Amino acid sequence: MPAASPHDARYHPRLLTPRPRAALRAAIATPDGKRRYVRGLFATIADRYDFITRFLSYGQDRRWKRRLIRLARLRAGDRVLDLACGTGDLAYAASKEASRVMGLDVTHRMLQLAAGRQADSGSGEGGRSRPPGAPGTPGPRVSFVTGDMLALPFPDAQFDVVTTGYGLRNVPDLPLALSEIHRVLVPGGRLLSLDFNKPASRVVRSAYLAYLTVVGSTLGFALHRDPDTYRYIPESIRQYPGAQGVAKLLDAQGFTSVEVIPLLGGLMAIHVGQRSKVKGQR
Ligand SMILES: C[S@@+](CC[C@H](N)C(=O)[O-])C[C@H]1O[C@@H](n2cnc3c(N)ncnc32)[C@H](O)[C@@H]1O
Repeated sequence: MPAASPHDARYHPRLLTPRPRAALRAAIATPDGKRRYVRGLFATIADRYDFITRFLSYGQDRRWKRRLIRLARLRAGDRVLDLACGTGDLAYAASKEASRVMGLDVTHRMLQLAAGRQADSGSGEGGRSRPPGAPGTPGPRVSFVTGDMLALPFPDAQFDVVTTGYGLRNVPDLPLALSEIHRVLVPGGRLLSLDFNKPASRVVRSAYLAYLTVVGSTLGFALHRDPDTYRYIPESIRQYPGAQGVAKLLDAQGFTSVEVIPLLGGLMAIHVGQRSKVKGQR
């Protein structure tokens, strides 16, 4: 392995100390800035993403995702789209119940890791047990596509269910993302989204964000020599409208029966919403 050069970004002294909070905040303050920052961030952390998610959620993340899938009440014939699918947790969980599942993410490396899970388990994580290519083996139940949640590469009304885990908080234009989700859902189709909440109480919010900042900085330094890497989480929560704010945006986009299901004492939330059953009605 070549020796580290002082010009190597990994060893640049600026990365060893947190940038002032204002700099990270400014970097994600505009839609274009946030888009660039988020793309760079997830490309950097993709290989450690699963470990970090389990670590930061104290192992609860899998339980929340199982809950989301139960709430989706999937049926065998449902067409499911998992947005910002990352390494594919929700897509594979959905594929145990629905036959056609597609995962979409903007980060190519995340999709490589997701597709690798299908290949690694031979028959896929979708619950089938035969080796690939064995007689009678159906094609992969989960397919993956690179794409942007703000411009979904699908015609209108293609999916019965759209899921997303920690997807909405990361987009630079939330109303546009919700409008795209509404567009690709069939009338009566459902959206389920898991994400952080922004606690309404100022005291709880400050304590929660301070906690995430300390843990995130430590983890970022330990894993990437860059404390900012996971300080993005509390900064993105600061910019996020929170669970009730997202519910209002869902209403405004024409979703009906919008529900917010609090998790972890309200620090996290699952949103459920339905596209109106009347075709063409927003
Ligand atoms: C926090 S990870 C969530 C991964 C996965 N859904 C999960 O629950 O573990 C956020 C994901 O959103 C993806 N992402 C960010 N902006 C996106 C966009 N505009 N369109 C599609 N994916 C995006 C990132 O590449 C990353 O994989």
